[in-house]
Amino acid sequence: MPGSCVIGLQWGDEAKGKLVDLLTEQHEVVVRYQGGANAGHTVVVGDEIYKLSLIPSGILRPGVKCVIAGGVVIHPATILEEIAMLRDRGVEVGENLLISDRAHVIFPWHTAEDRVLDESTADGENIGTTQRGIGPCYRDKVGRAHAVRLGDFYRDSLAGRIERIVAAKNESLAALRPGIEPLDAAAIAREYAEYAAELERHVVDTTSFLLDCVDRDRPVLFEGAQGSLLDVDHGTYPFVTSSNSSGIGVAAGAGVPPRFVQRAIGVIKAYSTRVGGGPFPTEQDNDIGRQLRDQGNEYGTVTRRPRRCGWFDAVATRYTARIGGIDEVAVMLLDVLSGLPELKICTAYEIDGRRVTDFPSHVDDLRRAVPVFETLESWDEDVSGARELSDLPPAACAYLDRLSELLERPVSFVSVGPERAQTIIANFPAAASLA
Ligand code: GDP
Ligand code: IMO
Ligand code: MG
Repeated sequence: MPGSCVIGLQWGDEAKGKLVDLLTEQHEVVVRYQGGANAGHTVVVGDEIYKLSLIPSGILRPGVKCVIAGGVVIHPATILEEIAMLRDRGVEVGENLLISDRAHVIFPWHTAEDRVLDESTADGENIGTTQRGIGPCYRDKVGRAHAVRLGDFYRDSLAGRIERIVAAKNESLAALRPGIEPLDAAAIAREYAEYAAELERHVVDTTSFLLDCVDRDRPVLFEGAQGSLLDVDHGTYPFVTSSNSSGIGVAAGAGVPPRFVQRAIGVIKAYSTRVGGGPFPTEQDNDIGRQLRDQGNEYGTVTRRPRRCGWFDAVATRYTARIGGIDEVAVMLLDVLSGLPELKICTAYEIDGRRVTDFPSHVDDLRRAVPVFETLESWDEDVSGARELSDLPPAACAYLDRLSELLERPVSFVSVGPERAQTIIANFPAAASLA
C-alpha cells in the first residue's frame, strides 16, 4: 500500500488530527512535513483529549513510527514539552519518534520578529499570526545566511553561529522597534545546547528513512498542517502561513517522490472557519456565526482566539480540492449544523457584477466577492449518535450529497463528534449523486 495524505481544504482546523488518528490504524508511519507549532491538532481517545502541535497525530497508536520531516520548523522547547506531556500521560515517545536533521530551528529572534512585523503591517489588517516565529524562520531558511538546521546542533560551530546571527538580529530588531530589549547570544546558546542534548536520540536523516519506505512500498500517512487556503503560494496571500499547506507540499516537505502519494483525502468542516485576518467571503458576523461558534466550540487550539465562522464555501474548496489532487473528502463536524434555521452553501461569487466560480488569485478581488448562496433544508435532530448514513436525517444526507456534487468528489468519511467512534465510513460516489 503506497502513501496517503490528509489535507485541510479550508483555513485550517478542519479536524485533520481526528482523521489522521483514525487512519493511522492502517499505516505504519505518520509524517508531519510542513508548518510547525502554529498547528494544533486534537485527538480524543476515550476521556483523554490530546492537543498536538509538532508531534504527528499517529503517536497515540503503539507501534507506529512518527516522523517530523525536513519541511517542518521546530521550536525545541515546544516539542520537548509535548514529549513530556505525552509521557506523563502514559504515551510512549522514544524510538517511535524521528525528527529530521534538515528541519529548521525556531529561535527567540524569530518569535520577536513575528510579533513586531505582524503589529507593524502598513496597510491596515494584520495577518494575525500565531506568533510562533513560523514566518521569520521560513524566511531565514530561504535566505540561508541566518538559518540553523537541527543537524547543526551537533557540530562544533553552533555557539559562534548563534553569536553572529544575534548580532545582526539585535540590529534589525532595534531598527524595527526602537528600544526593544537586545537578545543575549550566550544565554541562547546555552539554552539551545540543552535542547540539543535532549532531542539528540530522535534526530536522524528522515529522508533516507522515508525513501526506504518508498522503496519497500510501506503504508505511510502524510499529515498536513493548516489548510490549503493558507498555502503560501496558492492561498489567500498575504493572509497565509509560510509553507505549502495544500496538497502540493507533501513531496517537497517530506522528501518523497510525488507519485508515491496515491491517495489524497481532503478534510472539510461542514461549514467554514478562519482564525486571524484576511478575506472570508462567507463569514457570518451575526447570530448564525455565533451559533456555529458556540455549537462547534470554535476557539483556536493554539491561541484560544475565537474563530470566525461562516457558511460552507464550495468555490474555495473546489479550488483547493483541485490543487491538491484530492480523491475523496472527509466531512467533519456535521453535528454542529443541527438546529440551525436553514443551511447555506456558497456556489459562486459575484465580483463587480460578474458571476465567477474560479477562486480569485488576488486578495483584493476576494474582498469584493459577494457570495451567491444556495439554501438547503436544515435538521433539528442530534446526529452525534449516528454511525451509518442511514442513521442521518434525510436533510443531512441531502446536504452531504450536495457537498460531494459541488466538489466533484466522493465523501468517504462523515464525522459527527470528536470521538473516534463518532465517525461514519460513507463511501458514496459523487457520480451516483450527480443527476
Ligand atoms: P485540526 O487542526 O484540523 O486537527 O483541527 P482542531 O483540532 O484544531 O479543531 C477541530 C476541533 O473539532 C477539535 O476540538 C476536535 O476535537 C473537534 N472535532 C473533531 N471532529 C468533530 C466532529 O465531528 N464534531 C464536533 N462537534 N467536533 C469535532
Ligand atoms: P492547524 O494545523 C488555523 C493561521 C493564523 C494566521 C495565519 C498565519 O491546526 O489547522 P502563522 O503563525 O502560521 O504565520 O499564521 O495562519 N494559522 C492557522 N489557522 N489552523 C492552523 O493550523 C493554523 N496555522 C496557522 O491564524 O491567520
Ligand atoms: Mg487546529
